[in-house]
Amino acid sequence: MLWLAMTVLSLIAACCYAFFVEPRRLTFRTVTIEFDDYRLPVEKLVILHLTDLHFQRNESYKVSMFQRIAALTPDVAVITGDLIERDDGIQLCVEQISRLQAQLGIYCVLGNHDHFRSGGNFFEDIIYAAMNVIYVDRKLRNDVSALVRQLEDVGARVLRNGNTRLPVAAGDVWLIGVDDPVCQNDDLRKGMVGVPDGAFKILLSHSPELMDDAAAAGIDVVLAGHTHGGQIRVPFFGALRTRTRKPVDAASGLSRRGATWLHISPGLGGSVPLRFLCPPQATIVELKRRKPSED
Ligand SMILES: [Fe+2]
Repeated sequence: MLWLAMTVLSLIAACCYAFFVEPRRLTFRTVTIEFDDYRLPVEKLVILHLTDLHFQRNESYKVSMFQRIAALTPDVAVITGDLIERDDGIQLCVEQISRLQAQLGIYCVLGNHDHFRSGGNFFEDIIYAAMNVIYVDRKLRNDVSALVRQLEDVGARVLRNGNTRLPVAAGDVWLIGVDDPVCQNDDLRKGMVGVPDGAFKILLSHSPELMDDAAAAGIDVVLAGHTHGGQIRVPFFGALRTRTRKPVDAASGLSRRGATWLHISPGLGGSVPLRFLCPPQATIVELKRRKPSED
């Protein structure tokens, strides 16, 4: 009987932690990718990678997160989609993004939740999330035009199947951004129009599921989110699912397909504010030119 009571108490404690503690426990991580043969035209490029903010109104704990994140001074800041959960989060989201400091600019792509919102019923949202149902099926649209307009009003650039050359002092570094692949709004071919063949290419995509296309297109680095790192991780096992239609190597972290690197961030939020062994993360992705060996 004692073991049953202990098991029940442990489960209650784990649920309380997953609902009330871990979703607020912001972590910082630095990952470094090195490139040979002067492929990277600058010595170093420091990118702040944020994703899956899922802003709704009155989320003061996310404001606290951004107070800490805004102290960072990367070269460039990118946000790979799901900036909002619902329309009522647009203002708070834009206010926080406007606080970011990045010398070369702030760039965003859209995710499925920027286009479509959850129903707002907590238990229904858990069931839909567990079933991996995408809200596009439920026709609950967010005002994506207002989101894009307000982001651009504070100086953030939204790449919707488009690209831009980063204003680095030397060389050609291009950012390409696709609209959300989950809603099938992505068009990588259109996004790459005008990008020189030999340029160093960084692709921003909400979901990592277009990794094969990115590798075929000669992308050097893909930055993605959408998986939330699995959101709930089982001890000694890891993430239960990646939420992608095409398989990816892992729910978060760094991986490589051919010459194309992929970084998936666990992100900051989720439709359902529930995390276990997968805390919110702001990631610094350092791209470095590998020094020639001495011998
Ligand atoms: Fe998300």
